[in-house]
Formats: sequence, structure tokens, C-alpha cells
Amino acid sequence: MLRLFLLISLTCLVRSDAAETCPSFTRLSFHSAVVGTGLQVRLMLYTKRNQTCAQIINSTTLGNLNVTKKTTFIIHGFRPTGSAPVWMGDLVEALLSAEHMNVVVVDWNRGATTVIYTHAANKTKKVAIILKEFIDQMLAEGASLDNIYMIGVSLGAHISGFVGEMYDGQLGRITGLDPAGPLFNGRPPQDRLDPSDAQFVDVIHSDTDALGYKEPLGNIDFYPNGGLDQPGCPQTIFGGIKYFKCDHQRSVYLYLASLREDCEITAYPCDSYRDYRNGKCTSCGTPEQSCPVLGYYADNWKDYLKQKDPPMTKAFFDTAEKEPFCMYHYFVDIISWNKNIRRGSITIKLRDRDGNTTESKIDHEPATFQKYHQVSLLARFNQDLDKVATISLVFSTGSVIGPKYKLRILRIRLRSLVHPERPQLCRYDLVLMENVQTVFKPILCPKLQM
Ligand SMILES: *[C@@H]1O[C@H](CO)[C@@H](O)[C@H](O)[C@H]1NC(C)=O
Ligand SMILES: *[C@@H]1O[C@H](CO)[C@@H](O)[C@H](O)[C@H]1NC(C)=O
Ligand SMILES: *[C@@H]1O[C@H](CO)[C@@H](O)[C@H](O)[C@H]1NC(C)=O
Ligand SMILES: *[C@@H]1O[C@H](CO)[C@@H](O)[C@H](O)[C@H]1NC(C)=O
Ligand SMILES: *[C@@H]1O[C@H](CO)[C@@H](O)[C@H](O)[C@H]1NC(C)=O
Repeated sequence: MLRLFLLISLTCLVRSDAAETCPSFTRLSFHSAVVGTGLQVRLMLYTKRNQTCAQIINSTTLGNLNVTKKTTFIIHGFRPTGSAPVWMGDLVEALLSAEHMNVVVVDWNRGATTVIYTHAANKTKKVAIILKEFIDQMLAEGASLDNIYMIGVSLGAHISGFVGEMYDGQLGRITGLDPAGPLFNGRPPQDRLDPSDAQFVDVIHSDTDALGYKEPLGNIDFYPNGGLDQPGCPQTIFGGIKYFKCDHQRSVYLYLASLREDCEITAYPCDSYRDYRNGKCTSCGTPEQSCPVLGYYADNWKDYLKQKDPPMTKAFFDTAEKEPFCMYHYFVDIISWNKNIRRGSITIKLRDRDGNTTESKIDHEPATFQKYHQVSLLARFNQDLDKVATISLVFSTGSVIGPKYKLRILRIRLRSLVHPERPQLCRYDLVLMENVQTVFKPILCPKLQM
């Protein structure tokens, strides 16, 4: 019976452009999802020499897997329709271009495909046992646990955790991409991914209000846009199927972006998203201490993150709505000298010598300006302008009736967090008329100021 399945998937899914027969990820119909599927785990090996054509391997035949190299397992999650994950090919390709390694796609589509989530979740421990058997064989042939890396998506993140636990946390690394929340929320560490499952565990949470897990699960937990709703994803059911999975899948696309290296997604260790938004968490981003970067290279911060007690850090950042997702953060502080308190938001527009402009509106919460007090704000821009020629500011209280206010600024200072080595930009003695744009040339801040 198993062979028959294999044969069907082999014959039905031949890539028409390839001369040889390349096995591909199991694709099932929605009918299978309705009737449910029995568990079957296929391991598909991709290497630098076979980047697009997988070799099917198992615990008796490791095939062309080179045990002296790093091995990255990619483990998908629940498949309610039976389709193949759309991002899988891109992830394999991006990993292989980042490093010479073995990439093993863990195809447990038979098992994950069911309309009943509980049934898929119930198979995660069994998948982990099958992977353990395979890894034991790799070890027997000379592989090292240090060199084993698991990328688990949704339910796959917990599967990775179960495998890691069977090796007492000696696996090199686990990355959890929006680990599944339902049925796992609030469970004890042995029933879910946790920081003790590998030498380094990093997690991206992108859908904590629906399919994802809210609480931290790793040595570092990244919460893009606070972890709830992702920009560019439909917010209503009218967005169709995307409405259900866009936020959840965003974790995978953010991770992928880190491999493409168009830009680095910097994250800010912080207790809460609100504190991050209010500019309270910018202790990294100084020339002495860099901020952690999301994705494949997050393990560069491993030693630093593991020193903490407990060794868990939450990190927040905002993203743009599409690739490469990066936003560039500036720390803005303002000292005002109005006699009375002013509350409002500030829009900052930067322009460089070539005429490129980028704008940041800081309006998630009105800032409170008080005489001689320093107000710190976090400005987020879509573009990174290296040489800022002019800055324009608009102050708004948000009220349409009533008097127009002025904001008297004693000093404004902008500091790039992504490029702390860049000179800080200052300006003194400005008066902002409400809702009127004020444009000025920044001057370099005197040295010694922090
Ligand atoms: C490439 O994949 C094919 C098909 O699975 C396999 O026959 C072949 O041995 C692989 N070659 C290498 C170098 O991995
Ligand atoms: C492993 O793969 C080999 C070659 O494809 C096959 O002959 C063997 O039956 C497989 N073993 C198991 C346990 O599936
Ligand atoms: C396996 O990888 C090691 C280290 O990268 C390399 O020296 C060796 O030649 C590889 N073996 C094969 C059979 O490709
Ligand atoms: C999970 O599977 C086991 C047997 O494999 C069964 O006893 C149990 O009821 C299942 N649980 C759920 C929630 O389906
Ligand atoms: C700025 O504008 C120039 C010329 O229009 C363009 O080549 C460059 O890529 C832009 N830089 C940024 C950071 O957008």
C-alpha cells in the first residue's frame, strides 16, 4: 500500500521540464482532506548539486546526504486543503544559496492533510519519532547534533521541539515559524516547543490572535508588527482564503527575506510592543551593541541571548507590507518649551540630495510635550536615506475645531538605529504651527551628546 502511494506520487507529479524523474512534494485533493489521511512521512533531500531535483531518503538509505555538513530539516504544518506549501521551493533554494548544506524537506502531507486540525495535531509526536529514527542513523554514520537545524512551520515547530527534547536539547538549532497556537497554548514545555529543545531556539510570531502561539517559546521570540495583524494582509473575510493564512504565513516570508539579504530586519528587545512603539527599547542600536536581526542569521546573537536569566528575549519591530519588509528606525527626541502641555502627533519627512523622500507618521499614541522635558519617539521609515538634506515636520493635535496650537521646540535630534555610526541630526529653536509643514536643514549634533 505504501509503495502504491509512492508510485502514484512519483508518476503523477513528474516535472515536465526535467529529463529525469524528480520526486516532488505530495499533493492531495480536498477530497483527501475531507476523508482524512493516514500518516506517511517522506524525506526529500536537496543539495547544492541537486537543488531542484529531490532524492527520497530514509533511515536505511541516506542517499547523497553528506553527514559532515550541516543538515536543515524543513517541517511544514497543518494542510487543510492537501496542497503543497507554496513557499517550500523558494525556501529550499534560498537555504542552498546561503550555505552548502543538506536540506531535508519533511513531507508529512499525508497526516497533515485533514479538515480536522485536531487530527493533524495528534500526529505531531509520531512524526517526531520517525525523524528521531532518521537522525539516529545520521549520527551512526558520523553526523553531529551540533550540525542539525530544524525549521518548523506552525505544527512543524512543535514537531521540531519534540525531536529536540528526545535529544535533551543537544540539537544545534530550531527555528519556529509562527508555532501553532490552538491545542498547544498553555501546554507544559514537554508538550510544545520550548527554549530547552535545542542549543538555540528562535521563533517568529506573526498571527498570535488566531493560528499562532502568543507566549514566548524560544531564546528569542520575534513579534513583527506586534505579532497580531500583518500589514498587507486582508483584515476581513472578504479577502478570501488569504484572510485565514496570510498573517500566519508571513513568518515564513519574513524568514525567507532574511536569506535573500536585500536588507536586514532589525528587531528591538523589549517587554511589550507598546513600549517598543513608544521608543523605550532602543538600548541596542548603539555603536557598542547591535540589535538582533531576524531570520537565518539570528544565531549570531546566540551567546549573548543565552547569557540572560532566563535565556529568553522578546523582540519587536514593524515591517513594510511587502518584500523586503524592512523598515528603518530613527530615535527622535524633542525638548519643547511651551508653557502648557501639548498633546499630539508628529509627521516627519526626510529628503536626500537626490530628492528621495520618505515619511514616518508617529500617531499610534499622542505624545505629551511638557516644558523642558525630553520626549522620545520612534520613527519608522520605508527607505533608508543615507545623507539627509532636509527634514520636514508637521505637528497635529488631531482636533479639527478649536484653536490652532503651536509647538515650540528647543531641540530636536534624530539618531539612526540601523546605522548608529551615522552622525546624529539636530536642530534648535523651531516653532511648529499646527498642521503646517516646517522644512529645515538639519545640522550635526555636537559630539558628546548621547
Ligand atoms: C539527484 O537526484 C536524483 C533523483 O532523486 C538522484 O538520482 C541523484 O543521485 C541525485 N544526485 C546527487 C548528486 O545528489
Ligand atoms: C528506504 O529507501 C530504500 C530505497 O528507496 C527502500 O528500498 C527501502 O525500503 C526504504 N526503507 C524504508 C524503511 O522505508
Ligand atoms: C562532504 O562534505 C565534506 C565537508 O564539506 C567534504 O570535504 C567532502 O568532500 C564531502 N563528501 C562528499 C562525498 O561530497
Ligand atoms: C490521538 O490519537 C490517539 C491514538 O493515536 C487517540 O487515542 C486520541 O483520542 C487522539 N486524540 C485526538 C484529540 O484526536
Ligand atoms: C534616490 O534617488 C536616486 C535617483 O533618483 C536613486 O537612484 C536611488 O536609488 C534613490 N535612493 C534611495 C535610497 O531610494
